[in-house]
Amino acid sequence: MSAKTDPRALAAQALAGVAAGQSLRAAFADTCAKLRDPRDRALLSALLHEGARWWLRFDVALDAMLERPLRERDADIHALLVLGLVQLETMGLSDYAAVAATVEATRSLRKPSFAGLVNALLRRWLREREARNAALDADAATRSAHPRWLVGKLLSDWPEQAESILAANNAPARLWLRVNRRRIARADFVVQLAATGVESRVPDAAPDALILDASRDVITLPGYAQGFFSVQDGAAQQAAMLLDLRGGQRVLDACAAPGGKSAHILETADVALTALDKDARRLPRLHENLGRLGLTADVRAGDAAVPRDWWDGKPYERILLDAPCSATGIIRRQPDVKLHRRADDIPALAATQARLLDALWPLLARGGRLVYATCSVLADENARQIGAFRERHADARAVAVPLAWHAAGTGAQNLTGESGMDGFFYGIVEKHN
Ligand SMILES: C[S@@+](CC[C@H](N)C(=O)[O-])C[C@H]1O[C@@H](n2cnc3c(N)ncnc32)[C@H](O)[C@@H]1O
Repeated sequence: MSAKTDPRALAAQALAGVAAGQSLRAAFADTCAKLRDPRDRALLSALLHEGARWWLRFDVALDAMLERPLRERDADIHALLVLGLVQLETMGLSDYAAVAATVEATRSLRKPSFAGLVNALLRRWLREREARNAALDADAATRSAHPRWLVGKLLSDWPEQAESILAANNAPARLWLRVNRRRIARADFVVQLAATGVESRVPDAAPDALILDASRDVITLPGYAQGFFSVQDGAAQQAAMLLDLRGGQRVLDACAAPGGKSAHILETADVALTALDKDARRLPRLHENLGRLGLTADVRAGDAAVPRDWWDGKPYERILLDAPCSATGIIRRQPDVKLHRRADDIPALAATQARLLDALWPLLARGGRLVYATCSVLADENARQIGAFRERHADARAVAVPLAWHAAGTGAQNLTGESGMDGFFYGIVEKHN
């Protein structure tokens, strides 16, 4: 096999890129395109996601076993070794098959001189795995494969739930769909899915939601092209309801791309929606999504913190600020967040969120409502953010968030995995004299 067709070799190259800062999504998309066989693609996906998920455990394990670190140009071999350990410890492959295929991948990578090292190291791991796993388990950071700063933040923000958040971050997420009620009733779509052999569950938590077993190619489900449904976690599906929409309202979705919540807003009520995003490269996806679902919005590229560049001066009755955040609530879907996020990103993100809130507040009509959302579980971005905002704005009145989630200041917080949903925060403020 060559690196071009060996899923392990491709996964090692891609994982080395992710460890060096590339996004997992981009690395997976680039690499997956090189494989034809769906089984190879599935293996590549499993290796790459598990590799990213458990990197911070097995990278430490390797450092303890290697006499000296591999050179930078052999980062693919380092990643291959991490993948070897991941196959042995988390993917349930047989020891013999995992070692043999990993050794073989050194040849696919055209680095056969490493075959001996890879073989010796993985075999040594098998002899010493119990003691080595016990040492890794003794420390919360290596036990859960999370950066130490994040373990510390979770322990301080959610002392009683930190362990379960760490565990949920490493567990697979179910696939949530949002049924487009303008195109089909949820109950009818359940029947259509069942007719094609796809079982779905109707959760209490969200009126348009369905839950499927994970890992399906949604494009192959019935009604995709007709816009019957979108992929969206149940927690994100609360935004439209919390906006308390009425027909005819002017609504701003200030950080809209790729348009998941914009689409839900438009499926829910006949409103005039401005869908804004700073990143113009993300807008074609937003257009594509709205088009497939049969929805229309005034889509604009612009910085929500600088309204004079894009605002027509007419107040909005509703504003959704789905703010850029640490994404610490969606680590189970994007495990590379554990590798890429740094402790000092959090104050920088919190400052951006505060700037966005302050810039958008004057655009809200009297009596209007602003819903603030993040897919973060950190208080600095959530409860403290809304608390500080209310202190800066005497005309901001907090409204209780009608969700059976954890109270977080005046907002509500779902912790990762609770009710099967992502970690998510909502705060609601209304403008009064
Ligand atoms: C959490 S994502 C939004 C997801 C989207 N609401 C959805 O449901 O599909 C955050 C978005 O904020 C955008 N963004 C970041 N800073 C912004 C700013 N200053 N003004 C407008 N958009 C911004 C990013 O480009 C990104 O698309």
